[in-house]
Amino acid sequence: MQSLLTAGRSVHLALGKRAFSSSARRWQAVPQEKPVLMKEFKIYRWNPDQPEKKPELQSYKIDLNQTGPMILDALIKIKNEIDPTLTFRRSCREGICGSCAMNIDGQNTLACLCRIDREGSKNTKIYPLPHMYVVKDLVPDMTLFYKQYKSIQPWLQNDNPPEKGEHLQSPEDRRKLDGMYECILCACCSTSCPSYWWSQDEYLGPATLMQAYRWIADSRDTQGAERKERLQNELSLYRCHTIFNCTRTCPKGLNPAAAIAKIKLELAVD
Ligand code: SF4
Ligand code: SF4
Ligand code: FES
Repeated sequence: MQSLLTAGRSVHLALGKRAFSSSARRWQAVPQEKPVLMKEFKIYRWNPDQPEKKPELQSYKIDLNQTGPMILDALIKIKNEIDPTLTFRRSCREGICGSCAMNIDGQNTLACLCRIDREGSKNTKIYPLPHMYVVKDLVPDMTLFYKQYKSIQPWLQNDNPPEKGEHLQSPEDRRKLDGMYECILCACCSTSCPSYWWSQDEYLGPATLMQAYRWIADSRDTQGAERKERLQNELSLYRCHTIFNCTRTCPKGLNPAAAIAKIKLELAVD
């Protein structure tokens, strides 16, 4: 009996060993070296600490098969592994914070939502958002943009707040805010607008105007007339010539040009 048990155990152990060695062979066979796929990125560089040096495009080459799929992945790889002085903004990495807005191959967009063109023979050029002052490299100065946003008083204003509880809104009224509340204030649209390029001291630009309309359209807000009155001048609103660059470039698929058209319509019928 003992010998039988012993024999049985030895068979079991032997089977176990065979099973282990064959699965180990399978495990070793899985990883395969991907071929190297080098791509060149030409990136705008300017350092305020070296004002005598003109801005320039600096070239970096990385292996796309060792990099994530998005432009932001490439920038992070370059910063981590090649050049820690490269400066850009990013936070959420998923199109929510709006901080990685830049001009990639001629298009204003979010680096974290923009796929790398895997055509290795073509380089990719990356600039900061156009027609903005540059803080450093790919970081634009957003001071004026935020000041303009603040000027439209982007918060709920109501003369008769409910004594307790919340401001109620019907589902139908709530739906009027769709396509506007999703704006992440990345400024891709405003900095693609020719009217904003040339008159940004006075013209509010598509991002801020769409947010102005977002509050005009909100059934819970009682300041609509005052909000419209503030826009009723030649420069704040009417510099929009309905060219639609803003809508074409919005990385969130929003339509600021349509919101501007609705403000104009409401001002015309008031
Ligand atoms: S409308 Fe689109 S492009 Fe313009 S700021 Fe909002 S999210 Fe950005
Ligand atoms: S539609 Fe108006 S806001 Fe949009 S890009 Fe054209 S001029 Fe600018
Ligand atoms: S990192 Fe937040 S939108 Fe790109």
